[in-house]
Amino acid sequence: MLDHNRKIVIKDFGEPATAATLEIGTITEPSKGQILVRTSFAPVNPADINILEGRYGNLPVLPATIGTEGSGRIIATGSDVPDLDEGDHVFYLSRSDCWQDYVTCTRDQIIKLPDELPTDSSCMLKINPATAWLLLNQEDSTNPKAWIVQNAANSGVGRAVIAIAREMNLQTINLVRRGELIQPLLEAGGNIVVMDNDEGKKTALDAIGEDPVALALNAVGGESALRIMSMLSKGGTHITYGAMGKRPLKVPNSLIILKNLQLRGLWLTQWLEGAEYREIEAVYSNLCNLMLAGTLQQPVDAIFPPEDISNAIARSSENKRSGKVLLDFRTEFNK
Ligand SMILES: NC(=O)c1ccc[n+]([C@@H]2O[C@H](COP(=O)([O-])OP(=O)(O)OC[C@H]3O[C@@H](n4cnc5c(N)ncnc54)[C@H](OP(=O)(O)O)[C@@H]3O)[C@@H](O)[C@H]2O)c1
Repeated sequence: MLDHNRKIVIKDFGEPATAATLEIGTITEPSKGQILVRTSFAPVNPADINILEGRYGNLPVLPATIGTEGSGRIIATGSDVPDLDEGDHVFYLSRSDCWQDYVTCTRDQIIKLPDELPTDSSCMLKINPATAWLLLNQEDSTNPKAWIVQNAANSGVGRAVIAIAREMNLQTINLVRRGELIQPLLEAGGNIVVMDNDEGKKTALDAIGEDPVALALNAVGGESALRIMSMLSKGGTHITYGAMGKRPLKVPNSLIILKNLQLRGLWLTQWLEGAEYREIEAVYSNLCNLMLAGTLQQPVDAIFPPEDISNAIARSSENKRSGKVLLDFRTEFNK
């Protein structure tokens, strides 16, 4: 039995910065087929904020330990886990209680990471890069002449879309809500970066001329979602995967009818639940290679110890970030 397991728990949904609290618990040694992981880093994602607010697709039964993503090192394995060793660097695949010092997993709940990957940024591999990969690996997004347009282009997913699209020889139009992001996103590989307004839309469409826009990736909703939808060419696909603007998607009938647009959604959780472990492992192996090559980068904005969960969540909700807020569980337990 290990004591001093720091864990971030939620007892009641509410204001995120106060709904999450730190508790100290115990954890049992791994038994047959189990693996005990010591968490290193865990990011604060919009999904964590939504869960704390009580506004997410699958909410935990309260009280619950939370945290949709994290990585760490194996500190013990039970019998029957032949391919993993103490010290291996892994991330939690199908756990939603990652914000704690120790997690007891089964083999299919973790993915092994290459040792060369940095422990901080690789804790963000599970959600955003895989979402970007899925968004770009739709049947209709593989025409190299067709453009992809996305809003919230500075988000973790948005930056991963830029990186993975470049690797696939696909061209991106990127909409941002802050002018100071235009140059950094061009430097990150975005082909066109414009403001998320009607002038930005015109600038982008003028720049691409007659080329088609096949895919629109929406993480905002409201007017921004409609703007990127209206940039699509005939038969284009609009995928909603986020709702950062908290505004519903209200679509004029004519927009869909006249261009025969396809409107879809995408939720990584559903893919993780439905895909074979081998398929999932293969996708993450590709993403690890992109990270190792430096093609895929996952910037960090700020790092907090778990004791400072309230400030970590407050910072993650601020606007002027370019990177994720991480919780650093390598810090010593502070009695
Ligand atoms: N469907 C899925 O499976 C899936 C998977 C991963 C993520 N997501 C969703 O994708 C979205 C992005 O996630 P992330 O982790 O990549 O985000 P992130 O790195 O935390 O960045 C948040 C982004 O949202 C933008 N933003 C925040 N409030 C906004 C508003 N009111 N209007 C317009 N833009 C706003 C920010 O703009 P600035 O850069 O200007 O601050 C930033 O680019 C979230 O909605 C998340 O829930 C969904």
